[in-house]
Amino acid sequence: MPNVKLVNVRKTFAKGRVVAVDQVNLHVHDKEYFALVGPSGCGKTTTLRMIAGLVEPDEGQIFIGDRLVSELPPEDRDIGYVFQQYALFPNMDVWDNVTYGPTVKAWEDRKRERIGREMLQMVRLYERADAVPRELSGGMMQRVALSRALAAGAELLLLDEPLGALDAKIRTELRYEIRKLVKDLDLTAIHVTHDQSEAMAVSDRIAVMKKGRILQVGTPHELYMKPQGIFVANFIGESNFLEGRIVRKEGKAGVIVRLRGDFDVKSRSNGRLKAGAKVVLAIRPEAFELVQGKEKLENSLVGVIEKVRFEGTDIRYEIRLVNDEKVIVVRPSLGGEWLEEDNNVTIGFSPEKSHMFPYPEKGLRAELELE
Ligand SMILES: Nc1ncnc2c1ncn2[C@@H]1O[C@H](COP(=O)(O)OP(=O)(O)O)[C@@H](O)[C@H]1O
Ligand SMILES: [Mg+2]
Repeated sequence: MPNVKLVNVRKTFAKGRVVAVDQVNLHVHDKEYFALVGPSGCGKTTTLRMIAGLVEPDEGQIFIGDRLVSELPPEDRDIGYVFQQYALFPNMDVWDNVTYGPTVKAWEDRKRERIGREMLQMVRLYERADAVPRELSGGMMQRVALSRALAAGAELLLLDEPLGALDAKIRTELRYEIRKLVKDLDLTAIHVTHDQSEAMAVSDRIAVMKKGRILQVGTPHELYMKPQGIFVANFIGESNFLEGRIVRKEGKAGVIVRLRGDFDVKSRSNGRLKAGAKVVLAIRPEAFELVQGKEKLENSLVGVIEKVRFEGTDIRYEIRLVNDEKVIVVRPSLGGEWLEEDNNVTIGFSPEKSHMFPYPEKGLRAELELE
């Protein structure tokens, strides 16, 4: 039962000067498809390598299936590991690559043959068993790497940017294929990626990491709908950030916020912030209503369209607010009229669709920085 638990895990490099992973607590459930996302350098690979036993933590405990594994060497952890770079043996054909684990473990021939066939059929490459890696496409090599990782019977699969080296189209196809395989085989998977849309598409739950720490864990829906901080609101999906100050309470659950440029909007109170507090409102591009000209909407802001981008399923507008130099990204639901650049517009949002956060100590820009 490979559930995975990390308790207060910490790892530093360079004699403690680089803190790669800082007091991480994490519980990945059995048979869960779990993603670890965050910008490059935030500690994802180090976390995965500690679970695999390739890197030793400075502090903390790691459990796999309720077994403390800190003292257990990698080969005894029953883990399948797939890297971004297809790490196949270049001189071995596909068959020998896939049956490498069973061969090392000296499984009897019949069992090895059966596993090799099953694994390759599973990734639809049985017909290519004689090929060597360089004769295969990137997507095929990654499918071979996947079947090799699982051939020795691992129930826990660790994936480190497994799709990072592939073309966009293949990347999208293969991510659903990997998820299906994990679910069909009842595996537990931890998938590391810096690509939040990939994590959103395949995972049951996601942990967002920044600078060695976990900021929030939740389902894709929870992270998107209820980000607990500015960084997550920005990293998962897209958000606009409006800066202001709370003027007063309004009704039971509302507050009036005076935005930079001196216009007042109503937002949802978070219960803790008081009048006078400096705040940031996060609002998703699709949460805005958009109309041409001057009109009275809820929380009206007036602006000029600077850019229009047709993106297939969406139209993306960049709107410069009149009272502020701020550019707001708006993706209204399709079906309305298509507005053009230089049009004067009004945008509005309902208070329920804004998330209010305290203004970050080091400033908004620093908070949003990826590295
Ligand atoms: N072997 C190492 N020696 C020194 N620093 C390292 C080593 N491995 C990782 N780091 C540093 O630890 C931090 C986290 O790295 P990593 O876990 O690879 O991040 P990610 O996979 O999220 O990009 C980075 O600052 C990186 O430079
Ligand atoms: Mg990495």
